[in-house]
Amino acid sequence: MDLFEAIRTRRSHRTFERREVEPEKIGAILDAAHWAPSPANSQPWEFILVTGEKSRRRLYELSEQAKKTGRVEVRGFSYVRPLPQGVAEESGEDVALRQYSLAFLKNVPVIIGVVGLPVSPTQQRGQETYDSYKYSCGAVIENILLAATALGLGSLWFTLFNQQLLRQFLGVDPSKHLVALVCIGYPAISAPDPGRLPLETKVRRLEI
Ligand SMILES: Cc1cc2nc3c(=O)[nH]c(=O)nc-3n(C[C@H](O)[C@H](O)[C@H](O)COP(=O)(O)O)c2cc1C
Repeated sequence: MDLFEAIRTRRSHRTFERREVEPEKIGAILDAAHWAPSPANSQPWEFILVTGEKSRRRLYELSEQAKKTGRVEVRGFSYVRPLPQGVAEESGEDVALRQYSLAFLKNVPVIIGVVGLPVSPTQQRGQETYDSYKYSCGAVIENILLAATALGLGSLWFTLFNQQLLRQFLGVDPSKHLVALVCIGYPAISAPDPGRLPLETKVRRLEI
């Protein structure tokens, strides 16, 4: 698949088949992830490959817990499409959060935990930490999503989890930061296209 086609056809999938993902595909996706750019090639990331029924169920339970308390990793936007007309919005984000079902987590064949390293292995200087890992992990995650798309897989950038709870479960050291869980599997249905705002509303030209 051409890169531009992968970019344009990638969608966030939240319904997966139970079918296993071939290990070669998982390997190719991790390799694509690891080729992301980073400041001074510091490669401030690690991956946790989560598969298996028990881990899926536990991730589901812990995410439900995070959803109930609202203590989630990334806030400030709704994960669901706008409410149908006539349905009153009580309090924005909380309502959206309640309506958002996490049941799909029990079905995801592969979940890649992307862990950021505030002190990267190649930049170790005393206790100094850097937040550049966040940008690098963003690039890592996009590589994962695009590679999955190119391999005929569906994926989801997932952040509705509580950092402390998941650190404990996944064994992530407190000096590191679980940036996202990326869900990967064969899509059970085609994901809705949420569209984009007109490009011209996002571009400002400076011609001097
Ligand atoms: C930083 C970030 C966090 C996200 N977290 C979640 C999440 O926890 N759950 C979810 O269903 N989608 C999550 N998404 C996916 C977005 O909802 C999705 O990309 C957006 O609605 C656009 O849809 P599309 O990916 O199909 O183009 C996240 C995306 C980003 C970039």
